[in-house]
Amino acid sequence: MRKNLVLTGMMGVGKSTIGKTIAKRLNMTFIDVDNLIVQTENQSINKIFKEKGEKYFRDKEKSLTLINIQKKNCVISLGGGAFMDTQIRSAVLKSCCCFWLKLETKELIKRLNKNNKRPLLNQNNLEKTLDEILNKRKDFYKLAHFKINCKNLNKALVIDKIINIYADKKD
Ligand code: S3P
Repeated sequence: MRKNLVLTGMMGVGKSTIGKTIAKRLNMTFIDVDNLIVQTENQSINKIFKEKGEKYFRDKEKSLTLINIQKKNCVISLGGGAFMDTQIRSAVLKSCCCFWLKLETKELIKRLNKNNKRPLLNQNNLEKTLDEILNKRKDFYKLAHFKINCKNLNKALVIDKIINIYADKKD
């Protein structure tokens, strides 16, 4: 059985839409961990952060991610912060094939402007907030098995690149 294909990277980079299409094309099951959290909590991510706090969210994210990466034949889109967790990261690196979808702040801003679904983003100073988050995270994202530079690539090209790399891998 092939390793699961996992997507990591910043909010707004397109992990969910890209993951969904890859899963369809490869006849695999698509799992979006953010969606799982929303379903199991029956609450939006914003509300979970507001009412239960980030620590609660991260604990849920960790347990659901660790369980779901063990399923077979899946494409899994992680939440943007999941890869910062040591346990999630080492489990993903050990048992999955992991792609970092990389985009710079300037590109991310275009996609996240006016988006109010992400509790960590301060819309009043989006550029600074994204810069700070990305700077803290990029050394971790770099540890993914493959980096896809999404700048100047439309989603179809990103998808083709990932599928080609995944197809060439032996495990
Ligand atoms: C987060 C990213 C979000 C979601 C939550 C926290 C992060 O997922 O898990 O808002 O810390 O980067 P997406 O990357 O799917 O937006």
